[in-house]
Amino acid sequence: MTEQQNNTTPKQVGIGLVGFGTVGTGVWETIKKNRALISGRSNNLFSVNIIKAAVRDISKKRIEDAPTELFTTDWNEVVNDPAVDIVVELIGGTTTAFDIVAAALKLGKTVVTGNKALLAERGAELFSLSQNHGSAIHFEAAVAGGIPIIKAVQDSYVGNDILSMTGIINGTSNYILERMFDAGLAYPDALQEAQDLGYAESDPTLDVNGWDAAHKAILLAVLAYGSVIDPKDVYVRGIERVTRTDINFAKSLGYNVKLLSVVLKHKDGQIELRTQPSFIPTKHILSSVNGVFNAVAVNGDASGEALFYGRGAGKEPTASSVVADIVDAAHTIASKAPHRGFLPYSDDTKIKPINDTSTPYYVRFDVTDKPGVIADIAQILATDGVGISGTHSPVDPENPDKEFVDMVFLLHTCTFGKLKATLKKVRALDSVNSDPVVFRIENI
Ligand code: HSE
Repeated sequence: MTEQQNNTTPKQVGIGLVGFGTVGTGVWETIKKNRALISGRSNNLFSVNIIKAAVRDISKKRIEDAPTELFTTDWNEVVNDPAVDIVVELIGGTTTAFDIVAAALKLGKTVVTGNKALLAERGAELFSLSQNHGSAIHFEAAVAGGIPIIKAVQDSYVGNDILSMTGIINGTSNYILERMFDAGLAYPDALQEAQDLGYAESDPTLDVNGWDAAHKAILLAVLAYGSVIDPKDVYVRGIERVTRTDINFAKSLGYNVKLLSVVLKHKDGQIELRTQPSFIPTKHILSSVNGVFNAVAVNGDASGEALFYGRGAGKEPTASSVVADIVDAAHTIASKAPHRGFLPYSDDTKIKPINDTSTPYYVRFDVTDKPGVIADIAQILATDGVGISGTHSPVDPENPDKEFVDMVFLLHTCTFGKLKATLKKVRALDSVNSDPVVFRIENI
């Protein structure tokens, strides 16, 4: 026995799971497989044991070596069990999950959750309970699955002002966009493929409407800047309306299309926080993030840039993050140290109004091809001071006299508010047939 080893009996830390589906099973298996590693790395200070699990259907066989008495259909039995020190919420949603987490916090118990929607939508109430009852909330699994980005932002960047975090943090959207870009699939077919492969949820709404990524971006910003953020202040667009037409234009212009979440600290202290499908140069490293993988580029004022890349979802990667939180919390409990769950430490995060944010843009107009149409559009852009960096309008060799054509303008950086006002004037032209399609071109 070395001097470093702990001679006392390990403290038995009781874990209660609410939800024992894919991730719950992964947590059980990971703890079982790596128990000795976890104990050794924790100096044998404690032992973590899953002692209770709430499930919807008790008759469903989940795991061979889980005893029947482990399971209950009543989450109250998990939360109120005096031997349960850590409640792991794995059911998702923002209603029952809220009740479970709130009940546990009020009892002074530690909560581990991967529920990004719950914390992004109702974080103010839950962090206040955490503060008032001295109980911790840990949520490594809530952002980017198996990538340890929460601990990195919370702990490893503690000595940095975080200047930006730019990420691809929804694997389902990333898979769909990749298939549209690489295989030329239409959006519905790519979505169907993602569902058939089990990537998209059976209800993929939050994946494709951008909110799953936006919730994660909100949590990153909450950690980096210290105050709870109202989701209503955040700009979110999903991938549902991305078409092959724009993907093909992007490709021909040297860009890829990615659902990008951007967290950017401006010099005036305001935080730009937005999620939308954006054009990024194909040579940029984020363009190579394919399939259901996630990546977050973090830029700290001291550290400089770092890229976190890995599996953003799935049984084992998500379980890895849940287990990391369980072990962190167990360490606190066994050593009677102050907890290390996140608590807000500021109340002055100001989100920059989306109309004040600036990037270059790709804009596609559907126009009637008659003499002067380009000049008319260019005249409005020039009068409003919106610079053009390029134009593009492919000719169909089989029908060079086509009446309706796509007219693409690449525009210099201007505010989103100015762009919208100018495009409204362009839309009023007789030769412009529908609302223009706009993508930001990201300066990353
Ligand atoms: N459904 C998410 C994704 C994972 O596709 O990335 C959980 O947030």
